[in-house]
Amino acid sequence: VIAFFTPKRLAGRKVVLTAGPTFEAVDPVRAITNTSSGKMGYALATACARAGAEVVLVSGPVALAAPAGVLRVDVRSALEMRAAVFDALPAADVFIGVAAVADYRPLQPAEHKIKKSGDTMRIELTPNPDILAEVASRPDAPFCVGFAAESRDLDAYAEGKRKNKKLPMLVGNLVADGMGGDDNTIALYDERGRHPLPRAAKSMLAQEIVEHLANLLAPAGR
Ligand code: CTP
Ligand code: CA
Repeated sequence: VIAFFTPKRLAGRKVVLTAGPTFEAVDPVRAITNTSSGKMGYALATACARAGAEVVLVSGPVALAAPAGVLRVDVRSALEMRAAVFDALPAADVFIGVAAVADYRPLQPAEHKIKKSGDTMRIELTPNPDILAEVASRPDAPFCVGFAAESRDLDAYAEGKRKNKKLPMLVGNLVADGMGGDDNTIALYDERGRHPLPRAAKSMLAQEIVEHLANLLAPAGR
């Protein structure tokens, strides 16, 4: 009954999210990736759809089903993720970067499977573009939300990332608290400061993140 009377906080809004790890080819059968499960990004995509938004979820390789009511676009590398994000961006009101985008990719992926030799080997890496920073620095930027998973000094790094990337809002957590699991301990950072939340299931946290971002968004039509 309460749900019936609760206004959908993101009705009429378009939200684009990234989630999961990226997968940077070394050769046709090998890659550099990371342990992001995609659970937080998928939970947030679900919460946005339930809040009435049109949702595009640009997803790296994860073992999760597409949430109901969400358009999922599958990508592998950071460059593919960036292209899919920019395709989905027109008319977006909100961009949320949840993906653990690889900071580097192999400069020259091998065309054929690399054969072993007894020697040490090196893989030369080149920096990937920062998708979130690029989106946030556009003149017509949507409302941008970042994530930061840190192993120490969470508050300082989180506030630093929020300011450097010019984000109105960032979600921070310690890697040991959240990565891979179903629960997390997070804090929200915005212009007004730090807002810690009690430890909870990612699905519950996703609803609180949506609530917070809906409060910060300008009223529809402005
Ligand atoms: N991000 C992104 N593209 C990248 C790297 C990061 O869009 N190439 C986004 C992430 O999705 C996240 C935010 O930027 O929302 C912060 O990512 P994080 O890895 O914590 O920060 P970095 O700026 O990459 O800094 P570092 O890894 O050195 O801590
Ligand atoms: Ca990074």
